[in-house]
Amino acid sequence: MIANVIKKDDTQNTQNPKDKKLLAFLSKIENLPVLPPVAIKILDKTKDPEFSIDDLIDLIMMDQVLTAKMVRVVNSVYFGLGRRIESLREALVYLGSKEIKNVVLTTTLVNNFSNNQNSKLFKSFWEYSFATAVVSKLLAKSLKYKDHERAYLAGLLHDIGEVILIHNFPNEFLKVVKKVESTNMNFEEAENEILGISHTDFGPWLLEQWNYFGEIAHVVSRHHKPETSIYERHLVAIVHIAGLYCQNNNLGFGLNDDFKHELEMNFAWEILKNDISPNETFNISGHIAAIDDNLSGIKEIVNNIC
Ligand SMILES: [Fe+2]
Repeated sequence: MIANVIKKDDTQNTQNPKDKKLLAFLSKIENLPVLPPVAIKILDKTKDPEFSIDDLIDLIMMDQVLTAKMVRVVNSVYFGLGRRIESLREALVYLGSKEIKNVVLTTTLVNNFSNNQNSKLFKSFWEYSFATAVVSKLLAKSLKYKDHERAYLAGLLHDIGEVILIHNFPNEFLKVVKKVESTNMNFEEAENEILGISHTDFGPWLLEQWNYFGEIAHVVSRHHKPETSIYERHLVAIVHIAGLYCQNNNLGFGLNDDFKHELEMNFAWEILKNDISPNETFNISGHIAAIDDNLSGIKEIVNNIC
């Protein structure tokens, strides 16, 4: 789903993107992606701590694909329910308010940004983003990081800037993917080489336009360089590791065997060790094993939603 959010001349008036490069890039874009209306309605509704499940049911039932997917997701092995849920109401009650928001956001984003001429690229992109969200949450749990749902949200949206590229410059984006899959460059480096700018530059800007997720803009900006993060360093580190894990395991975008990341050696673990568990023995392989144990469940839920 895209809209004429910004016309070329409007970029002159935006206060946020001061950087000339960013302004020049934005001026080349005809259409920017918008949040799906059903997601906006549900995000608004769930802001009220007193919101009722019935209100949400009415909203979600207006979208049959969303309804079916939410029930399917809850029945995934990942949720480990042990029994079959048939109705949307049961699914929502089981999920609880924070999880409902995340599942609705995931399914509406996947649905709305998948049905166009670039659907193959979008499929890989959402598989990767969703898998990173799930892995971020698992890692957060394993690390005893305080807010699992926030880790999920940051994982889901960390690469959101790529949506702009896929919509507007699919051929260039394809070149970037090929470069990443065949060298040891990351997306940020490959984009900077091919386009002169990267998704970590314009992703935070897009989130601010969307008005709902400004609080994770810093994670979006620094997820390829956790050592440069200033705020929420642990969350940046979690998303960084989750993304590398997904690439190593061919979840969405995969890597050639010659270029797999040495996950255990990554600097981000140092941040986690110092910020989250300063006085505990820190077992990196144990945290990776906690994700490995769920790998088949992750693959199943990614297939169910994407
Ligand atoms: Fe990225």
